[in-house]
Amino acid sequence: MIIILLGPPGAGKGTQAKTLAEKLNLPHLATGDLLRQNVSCDSELGKQAKGFMERGELVPDALVTKMLAQRIDQPDTKRGFILDGYPRNINQAEALDDILKQKNIAVDLVVYLDSSESVIIQRLSGRLVCSKCSANFHSKNMPPKIDMICDNCGGKLYQRSDDKEETVKRRLEVYLRESSPLIQYYQDLHKLHRLLADGEAGVVLNKIVHLVEEYNDSHKE
Ligand code: AP5
Repeated sequence: MIIILLGPPGAGKGTQAKTLAEKLNLPHLATGDLLRQNVSCDSELGKQAKGFMERGELVPDALVTKMLAQRIDQPDTKRGFILDGYPRNINQAEALDDILKQKNIAVDLVVYLDSSESVIIQRLSGRLVCSKCSANFHSKNMPPKIDMICDNCGGKLYQRSDDKEETVKRRLEVYLRESSPLIQYYQDLHKLHRLLADGEAGVVLNKIVHLVEEYNDSHKE
């Protein structure tokens, strides 16, 4: 099963994708995490992506698409995967369709996590991320049990450099211009499901799981 989580920065795509992936036993493919790993190990891709990410702009499509295609080629994606952060514009959506078509598979469900701007700003300004396993926490909403230490793996937590107020504003502008047309794109394909994602994380997860169950029931052979 291939599920895409769409939504503005801070809507909770990463938080939900991680839990959903564990629940469905599918890999979580997050282009933001993959890019940050490349930046932290100073790879050629990381060097090219760093400036775009720090400015809150999209990394060029060709770089991200190649990175994602290589990730999809790994054997753990055979039963499907949860996509978070890709596609980010129509060009990427079409590139994804081509990658999947070559494998005779297609996107099953697209879940759009809708969130208000005030909630987004509040979430991003308090976000803490694990430097080892990329798990997300929040200084107020979802604090770790031990200050600045990851509950899952004991890694150190840090604040993302693109969560500064100015960069968040830029990311929201880029989202509206580049990514919001994807809502119509997947609506036209009858794959889009909208959810209000301002509520508590467990409540949002239950709504997504319900959509997955409905989809599976309606596609039973
Ligand atoms: P990326 O890492 O994908 O960032 P994003 O899309 O801006 O999304 P975020 O990670 O900020 O938010 P999220 O929706 O995942 O929220 P989260 O779950 O963390 O991309 C970063 C950069 O990489 C981009 O700007 C771009 O430069 C580049 N990039 C990535 N993909 C690309 C692509 N395809 N093409 C080109 N460039 C690309 O939650 C946020 C906070 O809220 C957390 O602290 C969390 O604990 C908390 N929270 C979450 N849900 C809840 C809840 N229900 N209640 C309370 N708190 C909650």
